[in-house]
Amino acid sequence: ARPLLYLSPRGRRLDQAMAQHLSEGPGMTMICGRFEGLDERVIEHYGITEVSLGDFVLTGGEIAAQAMIDATVRLLPGVLGNAASTEEESFTSGLLEHPQYTRPAEWNGRAIPEVLLSGNHAKIAEWRQQQAEALTRARRPDLWQAYTAKRDKTD
Ligand SMILES: C[S@@+](CC[C@H](N)C(=O)[O-])C[C@H]1O[C@@H](n2cnc3c(N)ncnc32)[C@H](O)[C@@H]1O
Repeated sequence: ARPLLYLSPRGRRLDQAMAQHLSEGPGMTMICGRFEGLDERVIEHYGITEVSLGDFVLTGGEIAAQAMIDATVRLLPGVLGNAASTEEESFTSGLLEHPQYTRPAEWNGRAIPEVLLSGNHAKIAEWRQQQAEALTRARRPDLWQAYTAKRDKTD
């Protein structure tokens, strides 16, 4: 059955794993609140799951619902031109994404890291992994802790 979701600051925080799970399901029904939100009896009666966009209060659930739809629908097969593009993104592996560079090789006196121009795919992958790990450790200790715990368990 389709999950019945109520966008609410009290809910479980939306994350990539939830979007992935929903994208593999039959769809969802979303309820957007206004003012004080939904009567508690309705939540209990229908067994509604509360989902939050983050620790802040919006005026209504519509923008949260749109964000959730976007995060979910882009994971459906065929929505993005290149399916592999979602596989390397932030959160898919539990890490933030490595820095991205495009052309030109030098811009405003800043060069692209040498290794990215080497054509050595193994070295490039290693560099990206190191960057992703360093960024995650510095910016998101919570994600880093979860990542290392999972990594150490599978080692
Ligand atoms: C003004 S808010 C109600 C806030 C509620 N009285 C509380 O303190 O938890 C009105 C509606 O906006 C939506 N909303 C507000 N913040 C949200 C968030 N962080 N995530 C998801 N929906 C949110 C919900 O649908 C909510 O019913």
